[in-house]
Parts: sequence; C-alpha cells; structure tokens
Amino acid sequence: MNPATTDNWAQVEAAAQAALTPEIVSFIAACRAKPHPESHLIAVLHRVQEHFGYLGQAQMDAVAQLLRVPAARVSGVATFYHYFRLQPRGRFMINVCMGTACYVKGADRVAARFREELGIDFGQTTTDGQFSLHDAACLGTCGLAPVVMINDKVYPRVTPDQVPGLLESLTAPAPA
Ligand code: FES
Repeated sequence: MNPATTDNWAQVEAAAQAALTPEIVSFIAACRAKPHPESHLIAVLHRVQEHFGYLGQAQMDAVAQLLRVPAARVSGVATFYHYFRLQPRGRFMINVCMGTACYVKGADRVAARFREELGIDFGQTTTDGQFSLHDAACLGTCGLAPVVMINDKVYPRVTPDQVPGLLESLTAPAPA
C-alpha cells in the first residue's frame, strides 16, 4: 500500500474518531466486523443523536468514514427519517399539536403565531438556541385542544394571543 495513502487515511481516521466518542467509535468497529456493516447505519446514527442531541455534518462525515459507507448514503438516511435531527435542539422544544381535534380548534393559527414570534418554521431552531419548533401528531389530550407541549409540559386550550406571553414566561428569570 502506498505510504502516503496510509498516512492520509490515518489522519482521516483520527479526525473522524475525534468527531465522535470512544463508545460510538467502538460500536462502529463492532458493526464493521459484521457481514453487512451498512445495515447498521441507522443504529449508529441513533447512538450519535442520543449523545450529541442531533446529527451534525462532522459527525455524519465521521460515521461515513469509519463505517466505510458513502457520505451521500449517510445524509440520505439522516434526512429521510423524520426522527433524526440535523440541527441542535433548542433549550425549549415546542410541539404544536396539528392532530384533527387541535386543528379544528385553531391549531394552525397558534402555529402561525409561534412561527411569527420566533421567526422560524417547523423543524427549525432559533439562532440563540433557545427554541425549537415542531408540529406533532395527536398528543393524546384532545379534550384540551388546541394543545401545545413544551419540553414535558402540556399547555391546554392555547390561543394565538397567548403565544407571546407564553414565550416570555419560559425565558423569564425565576423569582428570587
Ligand atoms: S389532536 Fe391534538 S391532542 Fe389529539
């Protein structure tokens, strides 16, 4: 083997390992030892997202290099499945229920107000890293429609006019 190629690969491998964690690197090595390493791609990406909170470009490139699958295949899988996030999560994860019961009670207007106030669309995070906005299927509390869930807390019967105050209350300093 050409030593220049070997040196280059050693550098690439070291950089890829540095972009991940030792546990994920070991997991990928174990997958590589199995008959069809590529079939473990989703499992690897799950581990990456579990640790980093999302799939960053550097992490996806590292997975491609260490698992020896094309980078296009990794980004294709990451963008195809909606449970993979390609952006960091905000401190507050806002899920606006767009299920039928919430929709008929005006969830689309609530969602529009969140978009307007935050300046982002569904699937995006504000540049200050505070808020991520997502649409959700039925959250299972239809009697409280329209429902918004922020992190683990459910907000019932939300109106568009309540949205600015709700956002303010989230970031307001706790009373001394
Ligand atoms: S449709 Fe929104 S909670 Fe069921």
